[in-house]
Amino acid sequence: MPARVSGVGTSVPPRVMTNDELSKIVDTSDEWIFSHTGIKSRHIAADDVAASDLGLEAAQAALGSAGVEPESIDMILLATSTPDYPSMPATASIIQDRLGAGNAGAMDISVACSGFVYGLGTAAAFINSGQSSCILVIGSEVYSKIINWADRNSCVLFGDGAGAVVVQATTDAGISDTVLHSVGSGALSLYRPVGGSRESCLPSTPDSRTKLHMEGRQVYNFAVQAIIDTVEEILGRNNLTIADVNHVVAHQANVRIIDAACKRAGYPSDIFFKNIEHYANTSAASIPIALNDMEQQGLLGPGDTVITVGFGAGLTYGGNLLTWG
Ligand code: ACO
Repeated sequence: MPARVSGVGTSVPPRVMTNDELSKIVDTSDEWIFSHTGIKSRHIAADDVAASDLGLEAAQAALGSAGVEPESIDMILLATSTPDYPSMPATASIIQDRLGAGNAGAMDISVACSGFVYGLGTAAAFINSGQSSCILVIGSEVYSKIINWADRNSCVLFGDGAGAVVVQATTDAGISDTVLHSVGSGALSLYRPVGGSRESCLPSTPDSRTKLHMEGRQVYNFAVQAIIDTVEEILGRNNLTIADVNHVVAHQANVRIIDAACKRAGYPSDIFFKNIEHYANTSAASIPIALNDMEQQGLLGPGDTVITVGFGAGLTYGGNLLTWG
């Protein structure tokens, strides 16, 4: 069966941190952050809020928008790199329980900012195969807990939030293609050095070694090309041109990454949706948050052709081709 997105929802913490506030914590400024990234503010979770809390609220909103009861879900795919607990249990299982989704399997997807497009592609494949008929795909992130707040090269870039979609079997066109890639040679350009099985955390480990470490320029160059390669591959495989596409919803990591990709490939920049100004980089949550904002703003119409593009740690990238509605 074909699969389509039948509902979308989000949850962001109420606390907003502006660039000006951030400039009191590290040596930066609103002018530098906005001109280098397009970010003005981000939402920051309270100390007692974890990925499952935001993910649960986004999931409930998406189910409400689709008119689907939790018992109808047969799989929950949670894309996150900030799980409630390190490595086990899957945060998806915590959401499954709290949601009352008693008939659902649940698993986490760990490909950082590419997580949502990997999840959407996986959901479509499960439904296409007949294995599932109703899947919840969630991206939920609390990067404020894993960034090094003393590192101005990375801490200004991220925010917290969650977005979710319901994917259901349909008779019409929906999610018609997915491309997924990994460039593992770049694995250490965006990672947390300590706390996994490579190097365990000792009492003497400096806190900064357990936090996110990023080679910004390397990731930037990769990301620009990842957007172009994903769009071109999807267009080529589906005999489309960029003129056939109504919206490209790329991961919101930096406005300059999107602008540079448009300039290099000659894409019209107005088909690329941007909302990073208000959220910063919410990793796996950024694409479903963007889809939700687009719906709220009346930008997504039935039959619109949409390409999503994710890229991030791994390094990983990929995208989906969707007919909306
Ligand atoms: N405030 C003020 N100055 C700063 C800041 C800051 N927050 N951060 C860096 N600078 C300084 C640097 O120290 C440097 O100063 P110097 O010239 O005296 O050494 C100067 O600004 C320029 O630094 P660059 O690193 O060259 O700045 P650039 O224009 O490349 O922008 C940025 C840096 C924004 C990090 C960019 O490289 C980028 O967006 N990279 C991609 C990041 C990304 O997308 N990461 C997430 C991927 S998704 C995932 O999986 C999590």
